[in-house]
Amino acid sequence: MTELKNKVAYITGGSKGIGFGVAQRLIGAGMKVAISGRTLKTVEKAAEYLGDENNVLALASDVTQHEDEKEAIQQILDKWGQLDVVLANAGVGNFAPVDEMSDEQWHQMIDTNLNGVFHTLKASVVALKKSKGYYITLASLAGTNFFAQGAGYNATKFGVVGFTQAAMLDLRKYDIKVSTIMPGSVATHFNNNKPSEKDAWKIQPEDIGELVIDLLKMHPRTLPSKIEVRPTRPDKK
Ligand SMILES: NC(=O)c1ccc[n+]([C@@H]2O[C@H](COP(=O)([O-])OP(=O)(O)OC[C@H]3O[C@@H](n4cnc5c(N)ncnc54)[C@H](OP(=O)(O)O)[C@@H]3O)[C@@H](O)[C@H]2O)c1
Repeated sequence: MTELKNKVAYITGGSKGIGFGVAQRLIGAGMKVAISGRTLKTVEKAAEYLGDENNVLALASDVTQHEDEKEAIQQILDKWGQLDVVLANAGVGNFAPVDEMSDEQWHQMIDTNLNGVFHTLKASVVALKKSKGYYITLASLAGTNFFAQGAGYNATKFGVVGFTQAAMLDLRKYDIKVSTIMPGSVATHFNNNKPSEKDAWKIQPEDIGELVIDLLKMHPRTLPSKIEVRPTRPDKK
């Protein structure tokens, strides 16, 4: 996919954070981008910053709901007639010692981070076969490094890494590229953070956007399938 102009992307969880930063960068490269989140008003507000009706589509879709994702993909195809890139990015983190984690916290992470990426893939795979497109998941370094209070989050992100690698093996025969991006700390609203000066040492969302552009522009014969990315220097406290 060396030419990005007018290619169509769908980013789940594009209302803020990493998804929003990637959307900004893809639109800057001339792409058309649909972004989603759970509340239409919030997504529409984000879309207003990004562009206009020619290059941005705001969608309400809860990735925990397979039907929502099918409907979102249909709306993209109705508007633009094609889908070239999917970034399964929507995710939540609830951190607590495993013996104190509630059922609700556990299931919210499994339903969003793990079931969500499956719903997004299933809903988009026919369109991606047609476009010989690219499906990318947003995993985490928590998909390879485990830590205290991370049992639920680690379980989902280890799962996303395994899911994406196996999906890559299934889908490459259709010329669909599949990759997972595994960032360390990114300056976003994740886990109720309010991005500010104190986050300057972290990866910024637009840096992940730059990485996605690099992946999309990679020669068709070459596939970086699992990408770890971390702050160059950790926080100096
Ligand atoms: N920040 C980090 O340090 C970091 C590091 C590694 C990996 N990640 C991963 O990066 C991804 C994006 O997180 P972020 O850091 O950008 O966090 P964020 O700023 O909190 O953004 C999360 C996004 O996900 C959306 N979302 C949450 N639940 C959803 C659902 N059920 N259906 C649809 N959208 C949903 C939110 O939209 P609404 O609230 O509007 O629904 C929002 O747009 C996550 O998968 C996260 O695990 C983050």
